[in-house]
Amino acid sequence: MTRIIHADDEQGLKQAAEGLRSGQLVAFPTETVYGLGADALNTAAVKRVFEAKGRPSDNPLIVHIAEFSQLSELVREIPPQARVLMEAFWPGPLTLVFKKSPRVPDAITAGLDTVAIRMPQNPMALRLIREARVSVAAPSANRSGRPSPTTASHVAEDLNGRIEYIIDGGPCTVGVESTVLDITVPVPMILRPGGVTREMLEAVIGPIAADTVLEVSKDQKPRSPGMKYRHYSPRAELVIVRGETGKVTEKINALVREKQEQGLKAGVLTCAENRERYNAPVVIPAGSIKEPSSLAAGLYQALRGFDETDVDIIYSEAFQEEGIGQAVMNRLKKAASGKIIDI
Ligand code: TXA
Ligand code: MG
Repeated sequence: MTRIIHADDEQGLKQAAEGLRSGQLVAFPTETVYGLGADALNTAAVKRVFEAKGRPSDNPLIVHIAEFSQLSELVREIPPQARVLMEAFWPGPLTLVFKKSPRVPDAITAGLDTVAIRMPQNPMALRLIREARVSVAAPSANRSGRPSPTTASHVAEDLNGRIEYIIDGGPCTVGVESTVLDITVPVPMILRPGGVTREMLEAVIGPIAADTVLEVSKDQKPRSPGMKYRHYSPRAELVIVRGETGKVTEKINALVREKQEQGLKAGVLTCAENRERYNAPVVIPAGSIKEPSSLAAGLYQALRGFDETDVDIIYSEAFQEEGIGQAVMNRLKKAASGKIIDI
């Protein structure tokens, strides 16, 4: 049985924290997406996270902390650059990859000699971690492969009955996961674009390595193991159509008609501005292109929205790959397994 704890339920939050401390699994809101938390130093609890998600065991977890002092038991050293980044972006959507301390179980790091750590900004996340008095390993709280959850009901859809608690903190404000930055290498490298943009990082520490690893081929071993899996996917096939707006709309409408003639139902993923331009049975806007952060905040909700319909295929517009748009397009391309029509 999974218990839902509402934002104003002080007693419930305390019980969930106590549960976390004793090896139970607690899903909680962060500013990026909901996380599925377990005591990071409890191997049995960490293993249950992999089971509940159906996650491959070679994909390591991020450890969440609420106090800077928690770092010392988790990492071997704190490089000077890390201090600057932590000052600038913690609490917030930046995950740093450190050399791990021997105390961190292999189950978390999937056998790597590094550990990914972040301090989330969401006040309920911070309170839960403080109350539990443990570091909290937490992947996104979705079944493996599905779009990440940005509301408590998304978590319940995927994990109800598999975990002890879900803390409902309302919708996540950022909507895409944290940026994962490797600082164990001479030039820091973005392993996953996210809530803190490349420009924001470079303004603080200077040049960052080109993230060629983000477009991995099958025979290349990505530095961030999670990047090789099918991810964020709605049930229906997803195809991105990229090009000049007018042409994209025309092409998508033509593709929708074509599918209709074959007796198939097509959906369209778009932005608020272009919604009316489509003639399709299901049209879902992720947000507004005038406010790229709204596209990030609405992306996973939109992808999950198609699962509530019976569409056979989804066509999506491509969005600007600037700022937070880098993270949005990274997730969209993964959700589409790289299928893009350029016109
Ligand atoms: O915003 C977020 O980061 C959310 C919330 C819940 O905090 N968490 C999240 O966790 O997205 P997850 O497990 O869905 O993604 C973790 C990513 C994966 O791509 C994983 O491979 C990478 O971080 N990762 C974890 N530890 C790593 C390490 N030691 N070295 C390189 N990549 C690592
Ligand atoms: Mg995830």
